[in-house]
Amino acid sequence: MPLPPESADLMRAAERASRSAYAPYSRLNVGAAVRSASGAVYAGCNAENAAFPLGSCAEANAIGAAVLAEGPALRLVEVAISAHEADGRAVTIPPCGGCRQRIGEFGPHARVHFATEDGGVRTLTLDELLPESFRLEP
Ligand code: THU
Repeated sequence: MPLPPESADLMRAAERASRSAYAPYSRLNVGAAVRSASGAVYAGCNAENAAFPLGSCAEANAIGAAVLAEGPALRLVEVAISAHEADGRAVTIPPCGGCRQRIGEFGPHARVHFATEDGGVRTLTLDELLPESFRLEP
C-alpha cells in the first residue's frame, strides 16, 4: 500500500532521524516519528550502548520526546519507522514487540507505517500488530 500523501512528512521525519542513529554494534540505523492528536510530530533514533541491553529503540525515544512535550494527555495517531544499514541500504523494520506495547500505551488504534527494503511502505494498525494486548487501567 502506498504511503498516504498526508503521512509523507512523518516518514520524512523518520528518515531524517535515522541519520542521527547511534548504532555502532548492530549497524542498523533506525528512525521513528510519531504524530500526536494535536498534530505535532516528534522524532527519535536508536541509541545503542556497549552494555547491549541498555540500548534503546527509535520508537521509544520518539515517544519519550512526545511525552516530554505533551505530558500524560499524549495520544498517538500515527507512527512512521525508517531504517538503513551503515552502507545506506534500506531495511524493513516492523516495530519490535516491546515498541508495539509502547505505541499501544498512547495510541491503541494508531496507524503504523514502516518503510520496506524495496522502497515501499507497509501500513498496519496497532490493533493488527498487537492483538489482544496487555492493558492496565491507571
Ligand atoms: N531497533 C529499533 O530502533 N526499533 C525497533 O523496533 C527494532 C530494533 C533498534 C535497536 C537496536 O539498536 C537495533 O535496532 C538492532 O536491534
